[in-house]
Amino acid sequence: MMNRSSRPKKIGVLTSGGDCPGLNAVIRAVVKCATRRGWEVYGIPYGTQGLVNLEHGHCAIQDLRLQEHGFDIPGKLHGVDILQFLSGSILGALNKGNPSDPLIAQEILDGYQLLGLDALIALGGDGSLDIIDALARQGDWNWVAIPKTIDNDVPFTERCLGFDTAVNTVTRALYDLTFTAASHSRIIVVQVMGRDAGHLALQSGVAGGADVILIPELTPTLNDSILSGICQQIVRLRQADRQFALIVVAEGVRNQTGEKEKYIGDCLAEQIQQHGKLLCMTGNPEFCLLETLETRATTLGHIQRSSVPSSFDRLLAAAFGRKAVELIETHQYRRLVIWSQGQVSSQPLDVVMSLIKERHQAHRCPHPVEPDNSWIQIAQDLGIYVGNSTTDAIVKHPCEATSMIRSV
Ligand code: F6P
Repeated sequence: MMNRSSRPKKIGVLTSGGDCPGLNAVIRAVVKCATRRGWEVYGIPYGTQGLVNLEHGHCAIQDLRLQEHGFDIPGKLHGVDILQFLSGSILGALNKGNPSDPLIAQEILDGYQLLGLDALIALGGDGSLDIIDALARQGDWNWVAIPKTIDNDVPFTERCLGFDTAVNTVTRALYDLTFTAASHSRIIVVQVMGRDAGHLALQSGVAGGADVILIPELTPTLNDSILSGICQQIVRLRQADRQFALIVVAEGVRNQTGEKEKYIGDCLAEQIQQHGKLLCMTGNPEFCLLETLETRATTLGHIQRSSVPSSFDRLLAAAFGRKAVELIETHQYRRLVIWSQGQVSSQPLDVVMSLIKERHQAHRCPHPVEPDNSWIQIAQDLGIYVGNSTTDAIVKHPCEATSMIRSV
């Protein structure tokens, strides 16, 4: 009789938390690599929630089987290969529900046991990896994690799945907005996702030719100094005969009183005008043109999560999916698959999770844009205002205001 390690494996795959482009491409890679090894792959719907449903008999185990030729897309596209082109997750996505309730956790553990898996591949961001790791420890699961999120904020990996596509989406939006901004000589503020991290705003801002990029790591709040820096940048562009400006603001940047705004882009657009007016009124005539400049804000929203996966994300999906299968094959569990220096490798989850936990406890982003991030210096050298500390406050209070414009 075959023992547990020599018989074909039965593995599960789940996508946890919000979706992002490339999840299906990883599922495809896992199915293909596992099938070549003679293994069976089971797709668990809606993250760990699918295991609860299983426990209650809501879905038949056999229906969860992912097979290489198991997908028929209307129009006669057959098989798992179609998945590399589709964003979203064929398994469904759910970013609610922390199974901290011991009863739900137990149902999940029972569902896992019922499925009889040898190992699990889970795709998640920092939040979901934390949750799955806690369950995996309780249930003694053999699991491997794959980082995915357009926020790119999972530590130890230079790239998370989905980030590259989102950078492309925002870059394309900036290109598209350039023409309407130029035609109307407007300032357009573009609000970009990223939660508490500025990677997406920073990289897409540089790629998309933004004039100002505000990220929470350098601009935690929209204070007067930052607003003055933006106004100066707009004036400088005008003096160089550029009639419009594109401003990228990451959603993690907070308002003047340090609160989170759902529409920080709208808030910023309004404040630029008010601040320009203030500067103009307080003896800085060069800012008076801001009174006549129109500002508009655009929030890109979930389109950033849903484009056709870029070629890089598809390559990453292939590399991540294959690596996860290889780790299971060699019995290397509790590892995070990572991308570092142009190669796929892995890190022990203990190391990764302790850093994530430590940063969560301190209410910090698990993998922020660090001050020495080369995109910051590149942006500055290209003349993009990134709201860093080199801008001195111009206006603290209308009464204190003098003509203290300094170079950025
Ligand atoms: O974490 C990915 C992300 O898209 C963030 O950038 C964004 O803040 C959040 O999810 C949006 O979540 P939801 O889809 O629940 O609105």
